[in-house]
Amino acid sequence: MNDSPTHPQCGPSAGPHPSGPAVPLGDRPMYPSAEGSTLAKGVNQGVAPVTYGKGDRPPRGDYARAGSDYTCEQDYAQYSAADHETYRRLYARQLQQLPGLACDEFIDAVNQLGAPDHIPRFGEVSERLMKATGWQIVSVPGLIPEEAFFALLADKRFPVTDWIRKPEEFDYVVEPDVFHDLFGHVPLLFNPTFAGYMQAYGVGGLKAARLNACELLARLYWYTVEFGLISTPMGLRAYGAGILSSAGELTHSVKTPGVPRVAFGLDRLMRTRYRIDTYQATYFFIDSFQQLFDATAPDFTPVYGVVRGLDEVEAGIVLPGERSFSV
Ligand code: PHE
Ligand code: CO
Repeated sequence: MNDSPTHPQCGPSAGPHPSGPAVPLGDRPMYPSAEGSTLAKGVNQGVAPVTYGKGDRPPRGDYARAGSDYTCEQDYAQYSAADHETYRRLYARQLQQLPGLACDEFIDAVNQLGAPDHIPRFGEVSERLMKATGWQIVSVPGLIPEEAFFALLADKRFPVTDWIRKPEEFDYVVEPDVFHDLFGHVPLLFNPTFAGYMQAYGVGGLKAARLNACELLARLYWYTVEFGLISTPMGLRAYGAGILSSAGELTHSVKTPGVPRVAFGLDRLMRTRYRIDTYQATYFFIDSFQQLFDATAPDFTPVYGVVRGLDEVEAGIVLPGERSFSV
């Protein structure tokens, strides 16, 4: 298959990812680890907390090197020349596709990642990011538990997987790697409004975990942070990291005729299941980052109650009367 999906994350990674499988949170099999433990969920115990996709594959990172908050040192010495070359090729392939498909905020900030010919040092990116919006990026071994993920976002720290896919995974990798996490997610953290949304999401995630609403909240993440489109005077553009880090879905999401692109609506989006193993069947577009921030500012406690009382909507459907974008 070509390249596709990316992961969502109610959490950290929960998910799918450029390729991969993301499983709705409620369906994720647990990997033997934190289960049965008396330690708080979201505290690293040296093993990966969950597995995704088909359920027979533990996450590939080495969790023993991470601290209790799941962050670790970026193991820069361990990158080979081939790893840097993989990053360079991925970066070049995506960069040339951005004009006319990615939103201006992303294009304006992507060079803040630094030199495009090697994997950036996270500390250097963080210095620039800190000046722009007060955010930092931190290194993690891979997908982390949702509560640990929320806690980092609430603290304005975005977790970035430090390893890079193997050359044979160039088009499709089943877990988020450094290219997806960094190239896909970090440029928009330079935008104050979007960065504010991400922090609010982290705070809201900690609350959703208490309310057993992570699966609903994960759909919001999926259809905005990972696969969101934004309406601009020039037409629809992508801002979702899963799209922006995918070679094939970037054009598909913005240009392919006949794909439903529906106006953002909080409960509509929380009712909609998502695809993890192929391109999305529905995309949602916002009119501005401010709209996204404002629409998600109210307390979600009653929203979760309402959504639980409504039927789910299959991906790929436009409901009667909905504002949708035709290209
Ligand atoms: N306002 C949400 C709540 O009270 C928190 C939130 C903000 C969640 C932004 C997601 C995104 O739960
Ligand atoms: Co992602």
